[in-house]
Amino acid sequence: MSIELNEKIPNNVDLSTDKRLQRALENWQPNYIEWWKEMGPVGHQADDVYLRTAISVETGGWANFDYVKMPDYRWGIFLEPKTEGKTIGQGDHVGEPVWDEVPGEHRNALRRLIVTQGDTEPASVEQQKLLGDTAPSLYDMRNLFQVNVEEGRHLWAMVYLLHRYFGRDGREEAEDLLARRSGDEDKPRILGAFNEPTDHWLSFFLFTMFTDRDGKYQLAALAESGFDPLARTCTFMLTEEAHHLFVGETGVGRIVERTCELMKKDKNGDARAQGGIDLPTLQRYINQWYSVCLDLFGGESSSNAADAFGAGLKGRYKEQSRFEEHVCLEGGREIDFVEGGKIVTKEVSMRNAMNEYLRDDYITDCQRAVDRWNKTIQKSGIRFELKLPSSRFNRGIGNFAEHHFDPEGNMLTAEEWELKKASYVSNADDEIYLASIMKPCLEPGKIANWIAPPRRGINGQPFDYDYVRMA
Ligand SMILES: [Fe+2]
Ligand SMILES: [Fe+2]
Repeated sequence: MSIELNEKIPNNVDLSTDKRLQRALENWQPNYIEWWKEMGPVGHQADDVYLRTAISVETGGWANFDYVKMPDYRWGIFLEPKTEGKTIGQGDHVGEPVWDEVPGEHRNALRRLIVTQGDTEPASVEQQKLLGDTAPSLYDMRNLFQVNVEEGRHLWAMVYLLHRYFGRDGREEAEDLLARRSGDEDKPRILGAFNEPTDHWLSFFLFTMFTDRDGKYQLAALAESGFDPLARTCTFMLTEEAHHLFVGETGVGRIVERTCELMKKDKNGDARAQGGIDLPTLQRYINQWYSVCLDLFGGESSSNAADAFGAGLKGRYKEQSRFEEHVCLEGGREIDFVEGGKIVTKEVSMRNAMNEYLRDDYITDCQRAVDRWNKTIQKSGIRFELKLPSSRFNRGIGNFAEHHFDPEGNMLTAEEWELKKASYVSNADDEIYLASIMKPCLEPGKIANWIAPPRRGINGQPFDYDYVRMA
C-alpha cells in the first residue's frame, strides 16, 4: 500500500486516485477542525505537545514522535493491508470471500455498527476537554492529549468508511458525528457511558481503564468482520488503543501505590487525611465505571447480536484464533433472568448470547488488572481488596436493568438501594473532595500528591521530560 503523508489528509488508501471521495473528505476536514477547536482540550490548543502520530501500519515503524500543536495534528486514514484470499470468518457466510463493498442486505446494520463505534470517539474527547487544567503531571497531561488526538483519528477512520462506502447517507452520518455532544440534553451521544461526566482525573483513569477497554473488545469483534474494510480499519485502531488502556490501568495502579504510601504515613491509616484517594472511594468509582461499561456490551440475550454474528458482521473476541467452530447454531448458554423477584437461569442460543461471550472476555481482562492493583496493596502490608462488582450491579441495560442489586449481586428493594447507594457508587461528597485535591502540577518531574510517578516515561524519555511546552 502506498503511503501518502504529504496530502491534505495523510492516508494509505490511495485517496488521490478517487477525486470525488477526496473532495468530500476535504470538505469534511474543516468542520472536523472546527469541532476539535470547540470541543477538544480547552486552553491547550496552542501548546507544543510531545505526541506520536500514525504514519503507516508497519509494526515497529508506524508512529512518529514530535512536538505538535494539537490543531495541527496530522489525522490520517490508515488501514491494514488487504490479505488476498481472505474469507468470512463466522456466521451463515463462513468460508465465502470477504466483502470489499457493502453487501446490500446488511447495509443498514453495518452503517449502524460504524456510526455507533464512530460516535464514541469524539464523545470521549468532549468528556475530557477540561482535564488538561488539573493534570497531575506533564507526563499525564501529554497522555491525555495523546488519547484525545487518537480518538480524533478513530473518528476519521469511521468517517472514511461512511464516506467511501455509504454514499449520501454516509456523508449525512459523518456530519451528525460532529453535531451530537456528550451529555447534551437535546442531541446526546449515542451510548450511555459516553454521556457520563468525566471531570476529574480519577474518572479519566477509570474511563481509559474500563470504557476504552470496552472499545478494545468492540473493535476486536469488528476486526473479525466479513466487511473487510471495516476489519482492516479496526485492526489498526487496536494498535493505538493499547496505549489508552495502558494509561488507564497504570493510572489507577499509580493511585493505588500512592494511596498505600499515604495510608502508612498517616497515624490513623487515613489516605484522605494526607490528601490522597482512599481505597473505599476508589472502590465506589470502580463500581460506577465498571457497571456503566458492562452496559456497553448490550443485553445478555440479544437478537441484534445474533443477527450481526449470523451475517458475519461481527465475531467473538479473537474468533479466528480461539475458536474451532464459527457457525454457532448448536448449543447454548445459561443466562440469568429475573422473574417474579427471583433469579432464574435459562438457556439461550449461542448466537443470542454473543454479547455475553464478549462481556465475559472483557470481565476476565478487567479482573486481571484488579488482581495487579491488589498485589500492590498486599505488598504494602495493607489489608484491603478491590473488587469488581457483580455484573447484576447498577445495570441500565439488559436483564437486571429494572432491578436493584448490591455489589455482591444480592437483590435489593428500591428502598434498600436508595439507602445504600451512596456507599456503593460515587456520591456528592466524593466529588467535592476529589475536586479539592485535583490541583495542577505542571513542572517537569513534579507529580501531584495523590498519585505515584510512572515507572518510565514515553518513547524512552525520562519522567521529568517537558512533555508539554505550554504556550
Ligand atoms: Fe478510539
Ligand atoms: Fe481509546
